[in-house]
Amino acid sequence: MKPLWIKHAAQLVSLSGENAPRIKEQMSDLAIIEDGSVWIENGEIIAVGTTDELEKSFSSRSQEADVVDATGRLVTPGLVDPHTHVAFGGSREREFEMRLEGATYMDIMNAGGGIHATTRMTREATEDELVAQTTKRLDSFFQHGVTTVEGKSGYGLDLETELKQLRVMKRLNELHPIDLVPTFMGAHAVPQEYKGNEEAYIDVVVNEILPVVAEEKLAIFNDVFCEKGVFTPAQSERILEAGKKLGLVPKIHADEIESYGGAELAAKVGAISAEHLLKASDEGIKQMAEAGVIACLLPATALYLREEAAKGRQMVDAGVAVAISTDCNPGSSPTTSMPLVMNLACISMRLTPAEALVAATINAACAIQMEDRVGSLEVGKQGDIVLWNVASYQELQYLFGVNHVGVVWKKGERVVG
Ligand code: NIG
Ligand code: FE
Repeated sequence: MKPLWIKHAAQLVSLSGENAPRIKEQMSDLAIIEDGSVWIENGEIIAVGTTDELEKSFSSRSQEADVVDATGRLVTPGLVDPHTHVAFGGSREREFEMRLEGATYMDIMNAGGGIHATTRMTREATEDELVAQTTKRLDSFFQHGVTTVEGKSGYGLDLETELKQLRVMKRLNELHPIDLVPTFMGAHAVPQEYKGNEEAYIDVVVNEILPVVAEEKLAIFNDVFCEKGVFTPAQSERILEAGKKLGLVPKIHADEIESYGGAELAAKVGAISAEHLLKASDEGIKQMAEAGVIACLLPATALYLREEAAKGRQMVDAGVAVAISTDCNPGSSPTTSMPLVMNLACISMRLTPAEALVAATINAACAIQMEDRVGSLEVGKQGDIVLWNVASYQELQYLFGVNHVGVVWKKGERVVG
């Protein structure tokens, strides 16, 4: 592979620095290089600096490189999406209409739709069908400047299908150039065959599924939907502690629909991140800041469910490290657009344009323990880079709802543009 040399970026957002995840005013520090330049070789960043600086070391080698002139344009690290349910079967557009007609997300789920509907479609799909459907979504992430994606199981809700979903993600991580980081979420819902017998399903998750997931190294993280009518905080704690004993790092879907002690539980079990947090209590936010739990906020989900967004501004000010994500899933957020999520982080949660970019790069990388490889443009990290058709990060967040992606490189290889 030829080396890649990007030169003359109007703004090169390097995000270099020791602080990861970033909190408070660190979230405003993008470490921008004007007239920026980056040299990538064998998929890795070898040098970052001003174009003048890089000319000194590399101009003699420009003949052998793929040289890209980024004059007047913004260059950032590839975006990181730290929370998705990307590997699923089928789709649920009828539920969108039902919700517009007045049904709630939980009404639909309790009537056997929602997560249960996708579980049926995912159980029916073959591994190859899931690989094909998910590949399209991963391609779409690339189109939106996203080069690293977390993906959860949780549409199997039985041993066979949970493993199928995780194996699909493992295969895709090998087949597709995107980095796909796997999370086990067997506790995404109580399957319908266990209705009224929740504890028996939790026994299955803890005693039968989790040990196989750990043994086969199919997931790094263990997530649960801690929500009224789904799993209680006590049940969630049991599942997360069982995962911890097997080496799986806890995550929690917390306080999405009702305030339920999810943020507090995240702090108690030492979760790497707590997700959603629309209804997180002030005390929960304080405890997350103290315990160093990353808040993974999903403003597209709030918009799509027509709910008020999480208190992102309050969380940043309280010293919580904030990350943002699409939550890409077939029910509450069928999107792959991280640029839209950044726009919404500004509009509906009052993050500043700089904070939103940090939340979608280095802090998102920390939420999935990928900060050593992605999330900033620093020597030794992967050559995951986006060249945007705008001149500045301010313009990127300001011109909203439009895809400004020009070129995307994954490990130094051009995958878009
Ligand atoms: O993060 N809240 C729970 N899980 C997903 C939605 C899953 C679905 O509706 O299929 C979420 O929003
Ligand atoms: Fe989710």
